Amino acid sequence: MNQPLWKITVNVLRQKGPTDKPHFQSFPLEIHPDEYVLDAIEKIWAFQDRSLTFRHACHHATCGACGMRVNGKEKLTCITSLHTVVKNNGVLKIEPLRNFPVLSDLVVDMGHLYRQTEEADFQQVVPLEAAQLPYEITPNRTPNEPYERLVDCIECGLCVSACPAAFTSTDYRGPAALAAIQQGIAFAPNEVLFDLADHENGVWRCHSAFECTEVCPSNVDPGWRIMNLRRRVIHHRISRVFKKSQKVSRP
Ligand code: SF4
Ligand code: FES
Repeated sequence: MNQPLWKITVNVLRQKGPTDKPHFQSFPLEIHPDEYVLDAIEKIWAFQDRSLTFRHACHHATCGACGMRVNGKEKLTCITSLHTVVKNNGVLKIEPLRNFPVLSDLVVDMGHLYRQTEEADFQQVVPLEAAQLPYEITPNRTPNEPYERLVDCIECGLCVSACPAAFTSTDYRGPAALAAIQQGIAFAPNEVLFDLADHENGVWRCHSAFECTEVCPSNVDPGWRIMNLRRRVIHHRISRVFKKSQKVSRP
């Protein structure tokens, strides 16, 4: 921390509500290069503009609230240090995540992501008693019942923002929800999950760009999971046809 402060310019995309025209606003800032992008945004809010809206909570890559586009790439801003993203021109461009409606400045509506993962049986909101009790002693719970979470996913939405297929359709389930479906099918295959996956807005809309895996800050690897889910869906289709033909050929 004995390096001199950097003089940087932070260009933030501002927009208050869906009818407001998005525009960049520049904020000059003196900040230490070892600080994080979220620190820069907090300093702007604290000392320059209290109307700047952004989400954050844990500050250690756990809650998934602070996802934004930083110089054109999806990042968790609480763990992205300035010296990794600010280049020689000293400019930092901050935008809200793509493929979600903007509510205010850097805050987007993540409802679609939450609803899609809930449909795949990975609930976002759980009764307090179920959330507090460890799995083994929670009454009446079996694996893959409600309140199971997708391993390692922090629902940050970075994968959805980076996904070129999500850009083409708001109905696309998206990488995180498909990863949840893959996890569900791998654990306990069922027709509901196969129907969610085997759909034009399911695995077949994915272009295998793997941008989701590249930006995912956790160990989910949604790109791999979608490819694995495709194989499972094809296998399931074939086995359904095979079962049908066995029934028909029986005397
Ligand atoms: S799959 Fe990764 S990038 Fe997508 S919401 Fe989950 S943690 Fe975030
Ligand atoms: S503030 Fe919680 S993940 Fe960044």
